[in-house]
Amino acid sequence: MNTLYFFLLVVLSNGVLSENTPIVLWHGMGDSCCFSFSLGAFQKKLNESLGGVYIYSIQIGDNIIEDVENSFFKYPLDQLNETCETLSADPALVNGFNAIGFSQGGQFLRGLVQRCPTIKMKNLITLGAQHQGVYGLPRCGALPFEICNSLRKILSQFAYNRYVQDILVQATYWHDPINEETYKHESAYLGEINNERNINQDYIERLQSLENLVMVKFINDTMVQPVESEWFGFYKPGQALETETLQQSSLYTDDRLGLKKMDEESKLHFLEVEGDHLRFPWIWFEENIIEKFLK
Ligand SMILES: *[C@@H]1O[C@H](CO)[C@@H](O)[C@H](O)[C@H]1NC(C)=O
Ligand SMILES: *[C@@H]1O[C@H](CO)[C@@H](O)[C@H](O)[C@H]1NC(C)=O
Ligand SMILES: *[C@@H]1O[C@H](CO)[C@@H](O)[C@H](O)[C@H]1NC(C)=O
Repeated sequence: MNTLYFFLLVVLSNGVLSENTPIVLWHGMGDSCCFSFSLGAFQKKLNESLGGVYIYSIQIGDNIIEDVENSFFKYPLDQLNETCETLSADPALVNGFNAIGFSQGGQFLRGLVQRCPTIKMKNLITLGAQHQGVYGLPRCGALPFEICNSLRKILSQFAYNRYVQDILVQATYWHDPINEETYKHESAYLGEINNERNINQDYIERLQSLENLVMVKFINDTMVQPVESEWFGFYKPGQALETETLQQSSLYTDDRLGLKKMDEESKLHFLEVEGDHLRFPWIWFEENIIEKFLK
């Protein structure tokens, strides 16, 4: 290919704005790609901090309302398929991109890199994601422990029902540690992408193709139970009080997802920040994420 043509291609596909690596965002539950009070504002600040960068904020559906609805009701593996197609067809992303996932958008972006061979994701940053799922209702900590504990036991009786798995996104990453085998077999999303039913070697290789997997945990998170899930930890199997870290889990020690190797290569980053779910000072984000992984 001649140099001028190559140069033009790079300029056109990256946009003339900057040489910063493009960024893909995936919003969380009940949010959309572009609300001015959430991801719209985030996108603007990110662009400012980087002095201009191509940002694509994922929208599932034809408009913002559908996007919000789909965050509750559209089967996650279908969401991944749709996103895989959209991103693969975007000329601005062909040379690779960094990705930032908010809450459940974090585990969806991880599923995407594992299941979509036609994209080139470089750094994946997950903010308050549930890499090992959840066992508990958002904000339930405000109620007495016994009540929340009873509620989650009741929910577990419905969560793994086929119909519920088909229609409710959040059920597909419900993780009942007391019934670990049921979770492994019935969890439509997490059981699949965490290699709980069988080992998909492609998932391992594609995840390992990331330069970095950066997991941010919110110390005062009232939405995600247990909060250790944001760092790929969870309750120890068989009970729902004591937690274990990723490194203590059998997922890691048996290396079913290739995370042990990534850890040894210093590709895993465990960051924490004070504050509730998805609340962080911009200066913290600039210093710890933008400076280190997005420049
Ligand atoms: C992003 O930042 C660049 C440089 O500051 C600016 O020219 C551009 O208008 C911004 N884009 C958006 C969508 O805000
Ligand atoms: C997603 O796409 C893959 C590959 O094209 C296909 O095998 C799979 O059935 C699709 N999954 C869903 C849930 O549509
Ligand atoms: C977050 O939790 C820590 C440790 O429990 C506590 O010291 C701190 O005051 C809390 N911060 C906020 C903003 O709630």
